[in-house]
Amino acid sequence: MLMSMKFTDICFITNDVLKLRAFYETVFDVKAEGDEWHSGIRLGEMAIVFDYADMLQSNNAFRYVSAGGANNVVVSFGVDDVDAEYRRLRSMDIKTLNKPTTHPWGARSFQFRDTDGNILNFRSVREFIIERLPTKDAGGLEARVSAVAALAGEIWREFYTPVIGAAQVEYMLDKFQSARQIYTDITQNGFVYLIAKNLDREMIGYCGVVPTEGYLLLSKCYVRIDARRQGVARGFMGEVEALCKAEYGLNKIRLTVNKYNFYAVAAYKKMGFEIVDSVNTDIGNGFYMDDYIMERALD
Ligand SMILES: CC(C)(COP(=O)(O)OP(=O)(O)OC[C@H]1O[C@@H](n2cnc3c(N)ncnc32)[C@H](O)[C@@H]1OP(=O)(O)O)[C@@H](O)C(=O)NCCC(=O)NCCS
Repeated sequence: MLMSMKFTDICFITNDVLKLRAFYETVFDVKAEGDEWHSGIRLGEMAIVFDYADMLQSNNAFRYVSAGGANNVVVSFGVDDVDAEYRRLRSMDIKTLNKPTTHPWGARSFQFRDTDGNILNFRSVREFIIERLPTKDAGGLEARVSAVAALAGEIWREFYTPVIGAAQVEYMLDKFQSARQIYTDITQNGFVYLIAKNLDREMIGYCGVVPTEGYLLLSKCYVRIDARRQGVARGFMGEVEALCKAEYGLNKIRLTVNKYNFYAVAAYKKMGFEIVDSVNTDIGNGFYMDDYIMERALD
């Protein structure tokens, strides 16, 4: 038995979400949440989900679904590593209905059928979504960048004050993480910013990358204290890896991390980075960044 696997829900694909969910509300005496496209009822640890067939079919990954027959029930399991599960099943010659796909609501999943044709869904258990900020300001970018800068201030003052002291924190926030600087980096300096939001739509982390000769520089990766150790940085890393290969044709990610930031060094090692060098950078005003350089080569 795979310990990392958790039964999460059964999804019924239907042509009438409201009618079907009303039936289950009556049978189980619970109130459903959601709308005519997507609704669910929770029964303890487990959920029954109702999805409108046309809506799912309009998503490339779910083109195979239909309402009725063995096609209208999807049994879902949360797994730690969707891609590893995909490789494991493929190595056993089990055909899948699609490849692992990250959906706009944050989950990553793929589906396959059992020998009777029932659909099984292996999906990530993460409860956040990652969005990419636009690189051109068609209106609204300044407000979003200000929200990133506010989160930067919150995380930096909490985390870095004991590491580098309050004066250097304020100096570095102003120099590298102010709304003005982030806006310039995005619109003029080739930076791409990703932000993570929890299910209440609060921003809980951000990440900034910029292509540099020979590698993609992971310039920033910060997660709010209450959202750490829940896979947000790993989520960013998945997106950064895709960006690195598909958008920039690069096969190496590089970052610098404070030598005394033991937690981040440990986290990056877990995510496949290794220390390749160290550097002590003069950033002005008598301050230095005493960093390791870490790299991760992509397959
Ligand atoms: C470092 C940081 C970005 C990690 O983000 P996170 O969302 O908590 O990390 P994740 O939950 O995605 O974990 C990714 C991997 O790192 C490991 N990890 C995370 N924090 C760790 C820690 N404190 N010690 C050891 N390993 C850690 C996780 O176990 C996971 O590996 P696994 O999947 O093999 O178990 C976050 O702790 C943070 O923002 N810290 C403060 C600011 C900072 O140091 N930023 C980095 C600047 S270079």
